[in-house]
Amino acid sequence: MKTSVISTANTDQAAAQGAALIRAGGLVAFPTETVYGLGANGLDGRAVDRIFEAKGRPNDNPLILHVAENEAAFRLWAGEPPFARKLMDTFWPGPLTLIYYRSDIVPDEVTAGLDTVAVRMPDNAAARALIDASGVPIAAPSANLSGKPSPTTAAHVLQDMNGRIPLILDGGPCRYGVESTVLSLAGAPIILRPGAVTKEMLAAVLGEVALAPSILAPLAAGEKAASPGMKYKHYAPNAQVMVVVGAAEPAARRLCALYDGFTARGDRVRIAATEEALPFYGDRRCALLGTRKDPATLCSRLFALLRELDEEADVILCEGVGVEGTGLAFMNRLLRSAGFRVEYL
Ligand code: TXA
Ligand code: MG
Repeated sequence: MKTSVISTANTDQAAAQGAALIRAGGLVAFPTETVYGLGANGLDGRAVDRIFEAKGRPNDNPLILHVAENEAAFRLWAGEPPFARKLMDTFWPGPLTLIYYRSDIVPDEVTAGLDTVAVRMPDNAAARALIDASGVPIAAPSANLSGKPSPTTAAHVLQDMNGRIPLILDGGPCRYGVESTVLSLAGAPIILRPGAVTKEMLAAVLGEVALAPSILAPLAAGEKAASPGMKYKHYAPNAQVMVVVGAAEPAARRLCALYDGFTARGDRVRIAATEEALPFYGDRRCALLGTRKDPATLCSRLFALLRELDEEADVILCEGVGVEGTGLAFMNRLLRSAGFRVEYL
């Protein structure tokens, strides 16, 4: 299959071309404000199956349905989730996915047999135009091969999906660079995956909000994943990623020692550094992630940098930061990409 890439500069034309494929049961990769999604008609179980095939995704991992208006979300849920209107008014369109009990129109393929369904409205004009023109909710996971870092440009999507899907809509680099916050409202509110809508921002609306224990730790043996996506190896490049968490200078000193050790063994090593620590690495080979003062900068570069460094390194050494605000989303993705190889100083 030949994979075409077309720009979303002409929003309506791109949406019309994408929607024709979606309505015919096909797959279309499209930009969102978080990462690129791999979309199919979310009401058509056979179309949704093709997503799992193209990604090589285990089919017990449920998908998010993307909508372009609030009323479309309410048709997918069995009743109105607590807090939903307030959350939608505050954060939609935007990087917040809401989970609640599903209605009858949601196919089993989307929910992987669960009695709940995840829904979000992306803050991206090309994505919403595609959903509108399709006239159905669009089921979409991140548009990477299962296990790989999520794609934040159309070029990343092409790298993983060339020959596997007919069309990629190219809307340029994604604004946030990490996937949406996933919040379950089926029961007491709990964050299953952190994102750019932070725990602090949600607490301001909800009062209390819990964090799933698996956000910063591997699942314990026998523990059941609140979100099935948490149990798989994730976001991992081919290179081994290792993380050191601490203040800029001590973290850099420790990473320098690791760098020198791996280099002496003949490994090709790169450091993913924060601006604050850069002066401590001397002439070791570094790539800039962003600044500790604003972890959103670390989020927006992380996946792209892992893909770039993977081309030239056997080992990627990365600084970890605190988990306040968007630091939690950064550390959640980074620790998974490292398979939890981490030192806390
Ligand atoms: O920003 C995003 O959310 C991107 C863009 C494309 O919208 N999508 C995305 O989808 O990250 P995906 O499939 O890569 O991640 C969805 C996560 C998975 O961890 C999945 O297990 C979880 O949401 N999930 C989906 N439905 C669920 C449900 N009913 N109950 C619990 N977890 C669910
Ligand atoms: Mg994903």
